[in-house]
Amino acid sequence: MKFAFIIDPIAKLDPSHDSSVALMEAAQKAGHEVWIAQATQLSAIAGQVRAFLQQVELTPVELVEGNWVVADPWYRLLTEGWRPLEEMDAVFMRTDPPVTMPYLYATQLLDLVDSQKTLVVNSPRGLQAANEKLYALNFPEVMPETIVSQDKSVIQQFVEEQGAGVLKPLDGKAGEGILFLAAGDRNLNSLIEISTRWGREPVMVQQFLPAAAEGDKRIILLDGEPIGAVNRIPTGQDFRGNMAVGGRVAKAEISDREREICAAVGPRLKADGLYFVGLDAIGGYLTEVNVTSPTGIREIDRLSGTRLGETTIAWVEKSRGG
Ligand SMILES: Nc1ncnc2c1ncn2[C@@H]1O[C@H](COP(=O)(O)OP(=O)(O)O)[C@@H](O)[C@H]1O
Ligand SMILES: [Mg+2]
Repeated sequence: MKFAFIIDPIAKLDPSHDSSVALMEAAQKAGHEVWIAQATQLSAIAGQVRAFLQQVELTPVELVEGNWVVADPWYRLLTEGWRPLEEMDAVFMRTDPPVTMPYLYATQLLDLVDSQKTLVVNSPRGLQAANEKLYALNFPEVMPETIVSQDKSVIQQFVEEQGAGVLKPLDGKAGEGILFLAAGDRNLNSLIEISTRWGREPVMVQQFLPAAAEGDKRIILLDGEPIGAVNRIPTGQDFRGNMAVGGRVAKAEISDREREICAAVGPRLKADGLYFVGLDAIGGYLTEVNVTSPTGIREIDRLSGTRLGETTIAWVEKSRGG
């Protein structure tokens, strides 16, 4: 089979951390062709979506004393050219957020690809519909108390009622722009003004969960079912657990309560074509649903001995009837 991965420039990927590389390696290991393109390299020509595709050959990472060792160089570009995406059996859309207008245009082009010929993961319609922060609001029974607003007095009142809150820009990732809000903080109004760009953009504000100190769990779901998890624990002064801001990763199991969360979210994810997703859970509550380019495979595989990339590629083979 032929697999295409729409990714950020390959030279910037980190094979020891990025799930996209784990998926590409798994496809190669299963004997498939691996091609890459960028979201900016899609064109519709004569009614057909084409991408500037480069075929790659990877040197897989190796686990040495608990750490991934990356070859230098770790990839080699083979042949390239503008080719119809429908030549591919599967396309993984794995461009990093933020979800900008050009990102949405790319998903609208991908939506033209015949789904009988090519499986697009995640489905372009699903990516268009699901904002990573707002999507969790579909599951109030497993979410902490949360508001979304651009109105200063609404946000102030929520923070006063809760005593403390966590503010999240709706287009952020990797801890970017995440703020701890405390009732009575002399900077509170100013923080709200800056984050909402003086009332022009809504933000999410969530009840502060003290359990965040014990970790923010990333749970990977494949076709609605949990397949692995890793915990991210804040270090130093930072209350955020994201790996990108220094969070320490630790081996994790999926608790009964977290399985309940997955059961609440899974059927909707399947229906929306959100096949490869990373849920974030803190203290038994769902805080975020990552659909664009969720990470975690490398950390989970390293700590739990799984091979989630291979699991995912095997699922694609099965759903393509291969
Ligand atoms: N409700 C909350 N209570 C306490 N800490 C939180 C809460 N929500 C998020 N955090 C912390 O902020 C980090 C980032 O939040 P998240 O919603 O996952 O956004 P993103 O990862 O997209 O930046 C989390 O890893 C966690 O450490
Ligand atoms: Mg997160």
